[in-house]
Amino acid sequence: MISKRAQSIAPSATLQINAQAKELASKGFDIISFAAGEPDFDTPENIKNAARKAIDDGFTKYTATSGTLELKQAICDKFRQDNGLSYDPKNILVGNGAKQCLYNIFQTILDPDDEVIVPVPYWVSYEEMVKLAGGECVFVNLTNKSSDRTFSGHPERFSGHSEQSEESQRKFTPNNFLLSPDDLKRVLTPKTKALIINSPSNPTGAVYDLPRLEAIAKICVDNNVMVISDEIYEKLIYEGQNHSIAAIDDDIKKLAVTVSGVSKSYAMTGWRIGYCAGDESVIAAMSKLQDHQTSNPCSIAQKAALEALSGDQSTVEAMRKEFQKRRDLMGELLNGIDGINFEKPAGAFYAFVDFFKIIRNRFSNSADFCRKLLEHAHVACIPGSAFGLENYIRLSFATGEDDIREGIKRIKQFVTD
Ligand SMILES: Cc1ncc(COP(=O)(O)O)c(C=O)c1O
Repeated sequence: MISKRAQSIAPSATLQINAQAKELASKGFDIISFAAGEPDFDTPENIKNAARKAIDDGFTKYTATSGTLELKQAICDKFRQDNGLSYDPKNILVGNGAKQCLYNIFQTILDPDDEVIVPVPYWVSYEEMVKLAGGECVFVNLTNKSSDRTFSGHPERFSGHSEQSEESQRKFTPNNFLLSPDDLKRVLTPKTKALIINSPSNPTGAVYDLPRLEAIAKICVDNNVMVISDEIYEKLIYEGQNHSIAAIDDDIKKLAVTVSGVSKSYAMTGWRIGYCAGDESVIAAMSKLQDHQTSNPCSIAQKAALEALSGDQSTVEAMRKEFQKRRDLMGELLNGIDGINFEKPAGAFYAFVDFFKIIRNRFSNSADFCRKLLEHAHVACIPGSAFGLENYIRLSFATGEDDIREGIKRIKQFVTD
């Protein structure tokens, strides 16, 4: 009964770990979770009030598929102020989360066999989205400069560590997991349709600097390659600042689709509002697709997102500062574990940690390590293989300081026992 297309979708490793953690918790085990992909803070009160008012005012009907004009105008204002990007509402599409925007971009721009360049490690859903749109992922392993391209559907994951002597390897820390202009040139082909840039990155937290983006933009313009710039963590930066590739010049702006949303910056993951900006023709085609798919995102959530973007911004800074404190604490504690040398990520709320020295001695791979860590130490983490890179583990610091202290203590005990 199941189509080949649906059968080709890989199960989500993140959801599997979370389900296992929940099952253990329901049996009464005290589980510490570093697996979350969402802020643990509540949605700020002014945003909740805007939603209550929307209900009381009867703002409960269909809106335009691409979002209300007032929300699209607020998104344009945000792009102008925060990103130096000038857009009109006709360049904006509001979706059910950044996820729907990304899904619809690939459905809209890809023809069979078109290639999309995906730097590894990458956010889990890109691969499946590209596959479902009939495209091919070209994975670029950022840890191994000599390896070439790997295509979509390849079951194996990059190892993150070559067979050469460890000394000869470049040390990969969260902040240098960045695509270089040479990496990009190496994998371009006549079939390359788009490149994905995710800054700050999930899972590494790496943030692209402007000179690097300028060099990447030039190559994309010279080769007529679109850029999908996923900036969903743009407000959670601790070192450096966010630069939108589309703001570099009009040539790259024409080829870029910039994606963001309210989930991570305003603790609004459940409200499902994301948005994107791009060339009018791309946005119009995406909107046509969304007409027959979900129509508009929830009218009440749109009013809440309007308040998030145009109302008091002090809660964003308060959450960012709290994440920074937790990042510093987690970094300090991780560095107290033998075999780990961890540099703090510049953005997002994830520590992507090299566990190679620990995994190679006692575990078959990163998934095996995470499974056993959960079973024996009751700590949930996501294996690097979920992001295409073995021997790394992703730990979210979207959790309280007490849990961070206890969780890292348990990990330390588990790996030294
Ligand atoms: C890199 C990245 N892009 C997009 C999304 C989707 O966010 P949203 O909640 O807006 O759909 C996520 C969520 O985890 C993410 O990590």
